[in-house]
Amino acid sequence: MHLRSVSQTSDTPTSNDTLSAEKFKSIFKGGIIGREIIFFESVGSTNDTAMEIGAQREEPEGIVVIADGQKSGKGRLGRSWISPPGGNLYFTILLKPSFPPREAPLLTLMAAVAVVSAIREHTELKAAVKWPNDILVNGKKTGGILMEMRSDGERINLIALGIGVNVNLFPEMLPEGIREITTTLQQGTGRSIDRVKLFEMMLSRLERWYKILLDGDKKVLFNEWLSLDSTIGRRVKVERAGLSPEDKIISGIAEGISDDGQLLIRLSSGKIEKVSAGDVTILKNS
Ligand code: BTN
Repeated sequence: MHLRSVSQTSDTPTSNDTLSAEKFKSIFKGGIIGREIIFFESVGSTNDTAMEIGAQREEPEGIVVIADGQKSGKGRLGRSWISPPGGNLYFTILLKPSFPPREAPLLTLMAAVAVVSAIREHTELKAAVKWPNDILVNGKKTGGILMEMRSDGERINLIALGIGVNVNLFPEMLPEGIREITTTLQQGTGRSIDRVKLFEMMLSRLERWYKILLDGDKKVLFNEWLSLDSTIGRRVKVERAGLSPEDKIISGIAEGISDDGQLLIRLSSGKIEKVSAGDVTILKNS
């Protein structure tokens, strides 16, 4: 494994849980994911940095870029991901799978399964996934996944699979409004979590699930995702991305996911609507 430490700024950590390149040295156990772990104290976005690095490499697959903090962390649908240093996980895995671009959303499901199962094993928390990319603890958001793809339409050239988890963040570092709907693993457990250990567990699960996906065992992944999911079978409201205001919102029962990772909603008419991107709210009493 190659390991580089590139310090871009000297942000003051907000806890004594300091990350350094040294701490990632013994993580890689062979395989694909994490064969090179590149640590930065601070970047704009690990997805952007990873894409830049990947564009310069002949074999980018498996490279992981991790940062202690991000200056302009990106969320889904053009949102930002608040990324103070000193307590959370922000990392991006570069992938170049052989399956077609339409199946790329499966990587988000795969990452959700890996992250949730690592959290469950490392803590006593019953973390859950919410379609498409939310990681929940006690019904509140504690993490998210941002998958970005470069493709020529037929083949995937490069994927940046970005994962952010609020681990030991002090809630007061988040703006009001966001504070109420998010939580951290520290809040959930009442203790400080070892970020490096948790990261290591996530990488080993990502490795496992990526291989399952490459072997074409989608069903195994879907079943695992469904067992960790908080959405399917519930009555939901979906605000669909990229549609006009009058078509944007639908509600119904979340029936399942399609074989390319889209959410299937059963409307009151009985018709099934496929959703590829949007925000899901689980309605009360469902
Ligand atoms: C979301 O829930 O909207 C997705 C959040 C994804 C955040 C992670 S943090 C690491 C990676 N780099 C980014 O800029 N975003 C992702």
